[in-house]
Amino acid sequence: MNKLYIIGVLFLLFSCQRKTQSKGTNQENSETDATTIYDENYRGQYHFSPEKGWMNDPNGLVYKDSMYHLFYQYYPNATVWGPMHWGHATTKNFKKWEHKPIALYPDDLGFIFSGSAVVDVENTSGFGKDGKAPLVAIFTHHNMKIEKEGGPVYQYQSLAYSLDEGETWTKYEGNPILVDEKNKDFRDPKVFWHKETKSWIMVLVAGDHAKLYRSKNLKKWDNISDFGLEQGAHGGVWECPDLFKLKVKDNDEEKWVMLISIGSGGPNGGSATQYFVGDFDGTTFTSEQKVHRWLDWGTDNYAGVTYNDAPKNERVFIGWMSNWQYALKTPTGNWRSAMTLPRKLGLEKKDNKYYLTSSPLKEFLELKSMADGLSFDLKKGEQETLDMPGVGQSVLQFKMEKKDLKFALTNAAGERATMLFDSASKLFIFDRTQSGNHGFNYEFGNKLHYMPVDDLPDTFEVTIYVDRSSWEVFINDGQFVFTQQLFPSEEWSGVLLENLSGNQNQIKGLKMAAIPSIWSN
Ligand code: FRU
Repeated sequence: MNKLYIIGVLFLLFSCQRKTQSKGTNQENSETDATTIYDENYRGQYHFSPEKGWMNDPNGLVYKDSMYHLFYQYYPNATVWGPMHWGHATTKNFKKWEHKPIALYPDDLGFIFSGSAVVDVENTSGFGKDGKAPLVAIFTHHNMKIEKEGGPVYQYQSLAYSLDEGETWTKYEGNPILVDEKNKDFRDPKVFWHKETKSWIMVLVAGDHAKLYRSKNLKKWDNISDFGLEQGAHGGVWECPDLFKLKVKDNDEEKWVMLISIGSGGPNGGSATQYFVGDFDGTTFTSEQKVHRWLDWGTDNYAGVTYNDAPKNERVFIGWMSNWQYALKTPTGNWRSAMTLPRKLGLEKKDNKYYLTSSPLKEFLELKSMADGLSFDLKKGEQETLDMPGVGQSVLQFKMEKKDLKFALTNAAGERATMLFDSASKLFIFDRTQSGNHGFNYEFGNKLHYMPVDDLPDTFEVTIYVDRSSWEVFINDGQFVFTQQLFPSEEWSGVLLENLSGNQNQIKGLKMAAIPSIWSN
């Protein structure tokens, strides 16, 4: 039996603010003005994106004086990758962002590739002045000219510093500070302060492995160990590493986690991020993990790293919400790409193995509406069609049983993004082949995508964040995560539930809440 529920109460305010989405246009939006910027077709309303131009990896994530800084791989002059700059934006709470002037421009040494930023509290670098701690960026210079001439060395690490909260930057005159004669891929330094040894530690990637360095002053670095030649997934070049300590949930243990992104060979094709859980003694990172694990099973979460110095010792992660398979082709207007929601990383131990969990920061989970939520008792083969205006910019949550179920976002154009749970194979199967504008790339629009979920309890919670061009699915409190871009030609406005199991199937406490725009005042 088909029933129709209208779930729109809480969206009054929300729909007043929204303008109708134009249909799947791909125009170069050269005439954008203040009223249309950030309201364009496919512009994520609560995901960070640059006002215009091309963006890839998050860089230099650092928290200083109540402000989260986001730097990012940026090419302002086109919507495809080009000579890389570091773009810059700041936020106090991830709910409103302020765009800042470009932080770093390409120079004679090369393009400005990915890297990190630290607050040099004790002025170990000597860049500080009049008692002011400098913000120091450690990044890769990529020299295109030398690469074209055949190398051999065209990636090396450099420094820049800022004494005014990242508004203006000075490049260090001693650049580059770290060169390697052996590895042509030698990039993406993540630096952090290791208080146990009172030194700076850098982890960077050299093609098929990670290299660790130590420094007392950020300028002179010694190689202390290497990791990963014989561990993990190697379907693509290693990129954008991170290394940090996490407390294990319900336990006194602390473990170290290394993140490594790979440009191709991800679980659903193309780019993805793997992690290793292990120990770091100040010199060497070791992990007993034999098989690689994925931080996110979705197609669109790449090059993610975590904040240095985030408050309450939290590990806040942001990823680039795209995939090198088709990043240059996505049908947005005068900008390209967005970041994932900021997520808090955690560690859980099960059967003597450690698993990384990720859940969006609590700020985004204000499910005040529908206090009890809607519950459905679906008979075999039964469907529910829910009319949910506003679902296109919302968070949805419900409890489901470990039974076969179809969940789909639907819209007036008859498109759908489908998530199917198959209990026999223990798979979540994602289908965006009917989700709107998908023909720009075969890998994007013609394949199903899979997320194996081996050890779920009998009932578990599903939380889904939907924005104008993405959905992020969190299963069982961030145990399994799937992030994906979607380009519907009309805003999502409904949900379909279908019981595909042989028995009664219960969905409990379905709730939805609008998420306000990060762009409005
Ligand atoms: C990852 C990456 C990095 C590099 C940057 C260049 O997406 O390839 O390894 O520093 O992008 O834009």
